[in-house]
Amino acid sequence: MAAYTELDGQEDPGDPGSGDEGERLGRDELAALQLTRLRATLHRVYDRVPFYREAFDKAGVHPDDCHSLADLALFPLTTKADLRGQYPFGMFAVPRADVRRLHASSGTTGRPTVVGYTDGDLTAWSGLVARSLRAAGARPGQIVHIAYGYGLFTGGLGAHYGAERLGCTVVPASGGMTDRQVRLIQDLRPEVIMVTPSYMLTLLDEMERQGMDPRSTSLRTGVFGAEPWTEEMRREIEDRLGIDAVDIYGLSEVMGPGVAQEFASHKDGLHIWEDHFYPEIVDPLTGAVLPDGEPGELVFTSLTKEAMPLVRYRTRDLTRLLPGTARPAFRRMEKVTGRSDDMIILRGVNLYPTQIEEMILRTPALAPHFQLRLTRQGRMDALTVRVEARREADAGQRRAAASELARAVKEGVGVSVGVEVVEPESLERSVGKIKRVRDLRAAGADAVEG
Ligand code: DLL
Repeated sequence: MAAYTELDGQEDPGDPGSGDEGERLGRDELAALQLTRLRATLHRVYDRVPFYREAFDKAGVHPDDCHSLADLALFPLTTKADLRGQYPFGMFAVPRADVRRLHASSGTTGRPTVVGYTDGDLTAWSGLVARSLRAAGARPGQIVHIAYGYGLFTGGLGAHYGAERLGCTVVPASGGMTDRQVRLIQDLRPEVIMVTPSYMLTLLDEMERQGMDPRSTSLRTGVFGAEPWTEEMRREIEDRLGIDAVDIYGLSEVMGPGVAQEFASHKDGLHIWEDHFYPEIVDPLTGAVLPDGEPGELVFTSLTKEAMPLVRYRTRDLTRLLPGTARPAFRRMEKVTGRSDDMIILRGVNLYPTQIEEMILRTPALAPHFQLRLTRQGRMDALTVRVEARREADAGQRRAAASELARAVKEGVGVSVGVEVVEPESLERSVGKIKRVRDLRAAGADAVEG
């Protein structure tokens, strides 16, 4: 584990540096830059995006009212529904012909959300992913295997251009064809892998299925994101693969991967690249700004985006802001607990899939593959955790693990759930972002999964 950490010598003289001075700013310089950029963004959207002009006018604020970073709180929040309402190009602040690339997030219901990038946005994005990869421990000249999906999803192409920008050799594997991925890793010998943590587990199982020892691969660094994952999952992946596993965060509306990055040298949450994105934490119910350190919903304002700058965009991701460590001027965000829309309310108790993940991984007979199934029994909602046993666990250990997990959830979260320990490799595997929760309530208690 942590084989590569010592190579992230922060200031060693032989370090080529990222060639990116932004991350070296001091706190005061950063704050001054943020205010200049914030005002420019507010003017830009007020002048160029009718949606924002209307929203600011309605709230009785004008870009000239922003005298300090705290004044941002005067401005209205932007939601996913607002973006949907402007589908496809209504949020753009540049003529369509200046938009060089489009991406879209699928959105489980209704219209997708389309996002656009100018040439300048694409340069800034690859620069920030390069900065992130460097923080993750990657170095120019290394081979980077990218198993994030390529296409409208920002993961593949976002990672790709950032890795090229850093000076790495890129293997654009995309998601899927798991056996081929494993062969590529064996043959091309990448040092770095970029993939969702759930698909990493699928790859690990495939390596073992092919009779390989995952610890014997060339991989030293894993840059995992696009879905919530826990410290317990970090340990599982680091131990099985013998790498440093670090967290990368981002969302398409704000840019894509590379909005915030964890340093391999610290592994203490993600530094937000605050010279490009201004973060706030708000109370998810009232929208009121909360002080640093308080948990709530993460909100971002673009500071440098040209094509589609967003003001106070509600991510629905739950976390808190912490002081910087590896880069003291930049605040960190704690690992995301989950999205407010992934929260399960079970008989009045709030529960996130990450809490279950933590408890499963603390139960030695259980594997990190699980699904949460919500059903209705009479007038009561019920949650069943379906989780795979580890291959080596015998029938007695599996039975004991089921009651142990049910007890841990009851004690930790305060609600009773059912636990079904199923055979290894019986649950559907992730090839990208995993969907943990199956909500079968609308279909009735005896619903069969469709
Ligand atoms: O998932 C961008 C990305 C690609 C990030 C690859 C990292 C790596 P979207 O598809 O728009 O963009 O989904 C964004 O995914 O609001 C979070 O809910 C979740 N998410 C992204 N990164 C993390 C992370 C990409 N490190 C949504 N931890 C976000 C937890 C994450 N959740």
